[in-house]
Amino acid sequence: MSTHQRFTTPYGFHTTADEVLDGIDLTGKRAIVTGGASGIGAETARALAGAGADVTLAVRNVEAGNRVAREIAAKTGNRAVTAAPLELTDHSSVASFTDAWQGPLHILVNNAGIMALPELHRTSEGWELQFATNYLGHLNLTLGLHDALAAAGGARIVSLSSSGHLFSPVVFDDIHFERRPYEEWLAYGQSKTGNVLLAVEAGKRWADDGITANAVMPGGIRTGLQRHQEGAMTPETEAAFASFPWKTVEEGAATSVLVAASPLLDGVTGRYFEDCNEAELNTDPSPHATSGVRPYALDEGDAERLWDTATAMLRS
Ligand SMILES: NC(=O)c1ccc[n+]([C@@H]2O[C@H](COP(=O)([O-])OP(=O)(O)OC[C@H]3O[C@@H](n4cnc5c(N)ncnc54)[C@H](OP(=O)(O)O)[C@@H]3O)[C@@H](O)[C@H]2O)c1
Repeated sequence: MSTHQRFTTPYGFHTTADEVLDGIDLTGKRAIVTGGASGIGAETARALAGAGADVTLAVRNVEAGNRVAREIAAKTGNRAVTAAPLELTDHSSVASFTDAWQGPLHILVNNAGIMALPELHRTSEGWELQFATNYLGHLNLTLGLHDALAAAGGARIVSLSSSGHLFSPVVFDDIHFERRPYEEWLAYGQSKTGNVLLAVEAGKRWADDGITANAVMPGGIRTGLQRHQEGAMTPETEAAFASFPWKTVEEGAATSVLVAASPLLDGVTGRYFEDCNEAELNTDPSPHATSGVRPYALDEGDAERLWDTATAMLRS
């Protein structure tokens, strides 16, 4: 676990992505945003393109990706916005995407995700789907793009986590729910802890390549992510949704673009940000905790163990 001083910025809960990028010129920088056809990813891509970056939306629905790319180009006047197919749970799709990538990559935003599927779903390999999508797919993509990131000099990886990581560490003994009952929020939490550990380990492993990696909790934003909860609302969940401190999508993308592009973060790596600041450590065992970062998500031993375990899974 790191013992560094907490990193803070002048920004906060209501800061928008455009406010973070105000005055920052990303001309000549190339960025990939996974899940860039919707929600926080689309706004992250729009803001990065607005600051001048070339942006590739890595999406599984290419028609939607092309439509969003055209909308972003029209809004920003930046024509260097394109969509490319990427299905994170399909090894050959990830390989096609990374093989096709030419030249340096300055910003990788690992943003795509799924949340709290009520039923257990598995990939053809037998992997639990939230872990396979949110963590394993992004690890696979990131490994495939390593050389492009190293070639950029000072590249940044943004790993979308969530306060959901508070629900569960990575359960190394049974990552894929083969010997314990499936629980949708534990599975989401485990995958989102994985996303933090990915940033911790990539930041450490690839420091000599000039690559930094940080994790982000974007805040609560009403997007397609909540589709599985909205389909099964009880009076309790409806009340919880009504009182939740939601952010706008412009506020939700602010922490991602801060970590992706703000000069304030030059050299900062392996940390977890929320509301545009590094989060406080959360050691409160309460299941109702909603903010901060659990020590298990920053644990360097777990970060290395997960990287090794997961790369072995991907090779199997
Ligand atoms: N919204 C929140 O309140 C919140 C809170 C904490 C963390 N987050 C995190 O923020 C990130 C973005 O979420 P969002 O709220 O913007 O949700 P969203 O609008 O549902 O966007 C998620 C994107 O991921 C894509 N995706 C899902 N599975 C994929 C796969 N197997 N391969 C490739 N792409 C895939 C989706 O594509 P399709 O459209 O084709 O399904 C969608 O474009 C997620 O990582 C999420 O965990 C969100």
